[in-house]
Amino acid sequence: MPATIANDVGCGVPISIRRVSKTFGADTDRPFRALEEVNVEIEAGEFVSVVGPSGCGKSTLMLMVAGLLARSSGDIVIAGAPVDRPITDVGIAFQDHLLLEFRTALDNVTLHADIRRLPRKAIEARAKELFAQLRLTPAMGKYPRQLSGGMRQRVSLIRTLVHDPPLILMDEPFGALDALTRLQVRTDLEALWLRRRPTVLFITHSVEEAVGLSDRILVMSPSPGAIVEEIRVELPRPRPIVLGDVQEFAAYVDRIHRQFERLGVLHGIDTPALGATNGGDAEARA
Ligand SMILES: Nc1ncnc2c1ncn2[C@@H]1O[C@H](COP(=O)(O)OP(=O)(O)OP(=O)(O)O)[C@@H](O)[C@H]1O
Ligand SMILES: [Mg+2]
Repeated sequence: MPATIANDVGCGVPISIRRVSKTFGADTDRPFRALEEVNVEIEAGEFVSVVGPSGCGKSTLMLMVAGLLARSSGDIVIAGAPVDRPITDVGIAFQDHLLLEFRTALDNVTLHADIRRLPRKAIEARAKELFAQLRLTPAMGKYPRQLSGGMRQRVSLIRTLVHDPPLILMDEPFGALDALTRLQVRTDLEALWLRRRPTVLFITHSVEEAVGLSDRILVMSPSPGAIVEEIRVELPRPRPIVLGDVQEFAAYVDRIHRQFERLGVLHGIDTPALGATNGGDAEARA
């Protein structure tokens, strides 16, 4: 896919993941089956989250969608084109923000665009718009070491979004944030997504975050990784920053926790200490 700047509202692309499996070390005497026959159809502009215990193959799946890791079998097709090399028309965000220390926040954001050979002026204008939306205009000229962790994470988010990619892949992008900043960045991400509707594949350990953001949640089981449940989240948007008051919200969270219980990755009944916590992310971290 050529690198372009999408101008249309609803710029997202569809993704087909068909019978995709992954075995690491297939040619060794100790092959490891990480993913088993994953099938997912993602619509253009859909926000899809993947939740599951540590090691179930979430990052493996995302790397294969990005074309950064070879499949053992199956097909991945994005906007009609089979993925057989690293895709370029994508915004990728990982847990580590990976900002360059010797460049200012704004230069970190535009560097990304320079590498993609996108028109500098348009990108800079869009970057400034995003800095303003994320209440970060005063941070534009600062270096990463002068910013808080939450600010750096938001700069990283701007860098992911600045070229308005039709597809965004995020692997635990808010993992390093404190709970309060995480709520804020989640709401910011939803607002930005609503403006252009790129397709998003979002990996998180936080069930609450998945329900807060997603149109659909894929629940994965470990050994080998497989999708065991798909949950369509019918909550209206934009979703409130404090979701606890939304009645259906708790039902979605509960449904996913029950699935984890069935999978044996949550043990609420036998472990009273866990049951006494807030019933949230900590347990799902397996
Ligand atoms: N390059 C590799 N070689 C061998 N095994 C690997 C490799 N990469 C991942 N694995 C194994 O594949 C499984 C899935 O790994 P993956 O990183 O996709 O898990 P994950 O669901 O993203 O976990 P986490 O939530 O901890 O990030 C794990 O058991 C991991 O040890
Ligand atoms: Mg991972």
